[in-house]
Amino acid sequence: MERKFQVLTVGELNADLILNQIDGFPEIGKEKLAKELALTLGSSSAIFASNLSSLGIKVSFVGKIGEDTFGNLVQASLNAKGVDTSHLIVDKTSVTGITVVLNYGEDRAMMTCPGAMEHLKVKDVADEALQSARHMHFASLFLQKGMRDDIIELFWRAKKCGLTTSLDTQWDPSEKWDFNCKAILPFVDVFLPNEKELLLLTGTSAIEDAMAEIKPHANTVVVKNGSKGSTLYTKDGKEVHLDAFLNEQVVDAIGAGDSFNAGFISRMVQGYPLEDCQVYGNLAGAINTTGAGGTSAFNSKESIISVAREIFNFEMNI
Ligand SMILES: Nc1ncnc2c1ncn2[C@@H]1O[C@H](COP(=O)(O)OP(=O)(O)OP(=O)(O)O)[C@@H](O)[C@H]1O
Ligand SMILES: [Mg+2]
Repeated sequence: MERKFQVLTVGELNADLILNQIDGFPEIGKEKLAKELALTLGSSSAIFASNLSSLGIKVSFVGKIGEDTFGNLVQASLNAKGVDTSHLIVDKTSVTGITVVLNYGEDRAMMTCPGAMEHLKVKDVADEALQSARHMHFASLFLQKGMRDDIIELFWRAKKCGLTTSLDTQWDPSEKWDFNCKAILPFVDVFLPNEKELLLLTGTSAIEDAMAEIKPHANTVVVKNGSKGSTLYTKDGKEVHLDAFLNEQVVDAIGAGDSFNAGFISRMVQGYPLEDCQVYGNLAGAINTTGAGGTSAFNSKESIISVAREIFNFEMNI
């Protein structure tokens, strides 16, 4: 079968309602005001897919939405960025999820109603979808209850179909971190946690201990650390720390991690060395912080190249 897509993203889909410049956090029985709002494409997987497509990569998506206004917004937003949605599943029995984001300076609080995303199952990912791509990315494990128990099977199937794979578990809203990442890591070519998530997933309090735990099972691991940048750990024992590109005027950091993933995977699927993938990861994360939400800084190749040149003094080759 022809591999029409460079990347197949499997994951959660929802809209984001972002409230900016809030005059305080919610309190029971009180009303607070926000000065600005935006309704946009949300979800880690969708931001990844959308920005990866803007970076010039052919991307398809397997996910579940409801038959409703937010579902239409999600699909239209993905299509507008060139992401193939022919594998999206419309579940008439559930609603499309939404995340309400309260932005407070560079920090934020989020409340999510998952809706349809909880009902995506590994069996919904057809072999035909896997066989249409060269790489599979999966994100937000803990938000997708229907995927949790069988997730290893999905990665195993992807490898059997000849794909390379990447995983970003993201945060566990239940904070139980009840997931044996060692069992899945042999089937994951690139593991992309942030520092806090890696510590919680491994039950350790130092990155060296976390890496010692997972190293025997893992292939490439990239640990993201916000404005401190990222560290790449290769299978053959190399460890490369790379400082973040400095952005003195951060709009917000929503989706910086997903954009990092997009930058990294965009280079990997084109066969660039891992150190180059890391540079493009850091750069895409930094570019993300120049616009509101996860996707607004990734409108077109031309605008991405121009932000990289003008704000980060970096000449992109995309
Ligand atoms: N303020 C910033 N300035 C410059 N670069 C940044 C900034 N914040 C993040 N980045 C870049 O983006 C990358 C990913 O960000 P971060 O570590 O916040 O990921 P994350 O915690 O997974 O985020 P997310 O909440 O989107 O999942 C960082 O490794 C860094 O290279
Ligand atoms: Mg993240």
